[in-house]
Amino acid sequence: MLVLGIDTSCDETAAAVVKDETVIMSNVISSQGIHLEYGGVVPELASRAHLTLLLPAIESALQKTACTLEDLDVIAVTSGPGLVGCLLIGLSMAKSFALSLDKPLIGVNHMEGHLFAGRLADPNLKPPFVALIVSGGHTQLVHVRHWGSYDILGATRDDAAGEAFDKVAKLLQVGYPGGPIIDQLAREGDPTYIAFPRTYLDRDQFEFSFSGIKTSVRTYLTKQSAERIDRDLPHIAASFQEAVVDVLVDKTIAAAKSRDTSSILITGGVACNSRLRDRMTAQGAEHNVRVTIPPPILCTDNGAMIAAVGSFYFIQGRKDELDLTVNPRATLKTAS
Ligand code: KG4
Ligand code: ZN
Repeated sequence: MLVLGIDTSCDETAAAVVKDETVIMSNVISSQGIHLEYGGVVPELASRAHLTLLLPAIESALQKTACTLEDLDVIAVTSGPGLVGCLLIGLSMAKSFALSLDKPLIGVNHMEGHLFAGRLADPNLKPPFVALIVSGGHTQLVHVRHWGSYDILGATRDDAAGEAFDKVAKLLQVGYPGGPIIDQLAREGDPTYIAFPRTYLDRDQFEFSFSGIKTSVRTYLTKQSAERIDRDLPHIAASFQEAVVDVLVDKTIAAAKSRDTSSILITGGVACNSRLRDRMTAQGAEHNVRVTIPPPILCTDNGAMIAAVGSFYFIQGRKDELDLTVNPRATLKTAS
C-alpha cells in the first residue's frame, strides 16, 4: 500500500510517500525562506509559495520512491487545523489528483499527524500513552487511548511554546524561526543566570500559559543596556529556554502519572529542542517512563506523518468525498 501525504498547513510545503503504514519511502519538505525578513509567517505569501512549491515537492517525493501517481493507493492531505489559504492549496491539489486518477482521498487532522510521527519513528510505540504536542501553533497534552481515540488533557491558554520561542527571538533580534536559534545560542549559556517565572497554573491540571514568560523577558530587556544584552545573549536564551522546558517536562510527567501510563511521546516542532529532548529523556529514565521523541525531521511539519494517518484510516475503510472542506480550527477528535 502506497500513500501520498501532503501538508500545506503553515509555511512548509511537504509531500511524502509512505508504504505499508510505517515505511517512509520519501519525505520532501520545502521550507519557505520568504518569511525570514518579516520575522514570522505571512499567510498570503505562504499560500502563494505553496502554489509554486507543491507540485515540484510531490514530483520529487514520487521520483525518490521510483513510483508514479498511478501506483498510489490513497491521497492523504491535511484538512486542518492551519492557515485557511494554505490548507486550501493542499486540499485542492489532492482533490485534483483524486478525481483525475480515481484514487481515494482522505482528509487528515494535522495534530493527529504529529501523533503518528511517533508511530513512524518507532513502530513499537503502542497506546495507551500520553503525548505532548508542542509546536508553533499548539501546545497540548493528549491521552492516546488507542490510535484514533484521544482525550485532550490540556492545552495552552494563550501562546504556544513555539510561538514563545519565536517571539522571544524577535525581542532578542536574533532571527526567525526563533526555536532553533535560541536552542543554538542557549548551548553556550547558563540556564540559571536569570530566574524567569515558570507558569504552572493549577499543578493538577494540564493547561499551559507562555505569554507571561515572554512579557518577563521583555521587561528584563528594557532594564538592560544594549551592550549587556549583546554580551548576555546566550545566558538570556538559556534561562528562557530552561523555564519553558521545566514546565513542559514537569507537566508531561505529571500527566502520564495521572493516566497511569508509563509511555510518553514528545512531538511537534519544539520537540526538536535539544534541551527538551535531553531533559525529557533523563526524567523518563528517573520515573521509569518510556520516552519516544521522533528525529527532528519527523517532529516539524512533514508529509510522512499525514500519509501515516491516511494509511491508518484507509485500512479502516474510511474515504472522504470530493466535497471535503478545510477546517482551519479543527481539533483532535476521536474517530467515529
Ligand atoms: O510543528 P512545526 O513545524 O509547525 C507547526 O505546526 O507549528 O513547529 C514549528 C515551531 C516554531 O515555532 C519553531 O520555532 C519551533 O517549532 N522549533 C523549535 C526548535 N525547532 C523548531 N523550538 C525550540 N527549539 C528548537 N530546536
Ligand atoms: Zn505542525
